[in-house]
Amino acid sequence: MLKTIDLKNHPTQGCDTEPLLELRDLRTQFITPQSVVSAVDGVSLSIRPGQTMALVGESGSGKSVTALSILRLFNRGDKVKISGQALWKNRQGQVIDLLALQENELRTFRGREIGFVFQDPGASLNPVFTIGAQIRETLEIHQSNEDSSLLAIQLLRDVGIADPDRRINAFPHQLSGGMRQRVMLAMTLACQPRFLIADEPTTALDVTIQAQMMRLLSEIQEKHNMAMLFITHDLALVSQIADRVAVMYAGQVVETGNVHELTNHPKHPYTKALLDCRPIRLYKEDEPDERILIPIKGRPPRSGDVSMGCRFAPRCNAQKDICMQNPVSLEIFSGAESVRCLRWREL
Ligand SMILES: Nc1ncnc2c1ncn2[C@@H]1O[C@H](COP(=O)(O)OP(=O)(O)OP(=O)(O)O)[C@@H](O)[C@H]1O
Ligand SMILES: [Mg+2]
Repeated sequence: MLKTIDLKNHPTQGCDTEPLLELRDLRTQFITPQSVVSAVDGVSLSIRPGQTMALVGESGSGKSVTALSILRLFNRGDKVKISGQALWKNRQGQVIDLLALQENELRTFRGREIGFVFQDPGASLNPVFTIGAQIRETLEIHQSNEDSSLLAIQLLRDVGIADPDRRINAFPHQLSGGMRQRVMLAMTLACQPRFLIADEPTTALDVTIQAQMMRLLSEIQEKHNMAMLFITHDLALVSQIADRVAVMYAGQVVETGNVHELTNHPKHPYTKALLDCRPIRLYKEDEPDERILIPIKGRPPRSGDVSMGCRFAPRCNAQKDICMQNPVSLEIFSGAESVRCLRWREL
């Protein structure tokens, strides 16, 4: 019997905006022989049914580890310490803390409730079985009473694979990277998850396939009212797909907001810097874009090497002495927006 949590007194309860998943003060550390790596350091986020939250930030900021922590999808050899809560609202409306579950209890949530698309589809497909066999296997574990071959073909068609009756007999190595990524998505969707975590699902794809994949994700999401955590470096993709955005820096969330507000009126200097180093449009030469690409100076800090005050301060153009003195907490304003900067109002 799973332990459920009574959130009667929580401010979001009882209204139609109750979160499907809420992370509260998530902290994840890797205990390595050399050191303790604090990869995620107090992340709180909430995602509602049907909503897409984009998680952005530079390499190493803790995006993947945040996502992996939700379902504890770490490598067997990793020594990981996780604290905080990952509150999941199940189909009966009960709230369950995924972080408090035993491994065997958590297994029932993986795939069926929460699907995960990894950046590298090659690593997730078995090279010795046809893709049809692998999709059917997923279908048979999670569903029953349907002709799984027909369903598998339909799923391949849904994710835009041409000639699915023939492709179903292909082995992974006979498909292109883009096709393998779609097969992975088909396998994930076979379980009809209520929540999809997509960790850089388009990074390995060329731009045309990337655009198709993004369209596909949006369509599928709308059709099934599926919520999504979409992880990316690419702020251009964010505006195509997300409702809300959380920006991560050195293991912490530094800004959250509605996608239009955050991309048009960023508050945190790091979000501004990320937007300023976004590539400008390259077509329409007769209408030159005046923007200049400005790279962010310096590098993100290594774990254990973060500054006493604001973690971004050493790289920030707006930094003052006060920024270096004490840790900066996340300030919540307008109900759901937040920013971790002492000077954001004056900047
Ligand atoms: N298995 C591990 N053992 C030790 N440290 C790890 C492990 N996995 C991740 N880390 C560290 O945790 C931090 C966050 O890594 P994470 O993979 O979440 O970054 P990311 O934001 O997803 O980056 P990218 O955009 O490159 O995928 C990094 O400092 C990384 O080196
Ligand atoms: Mg990552």
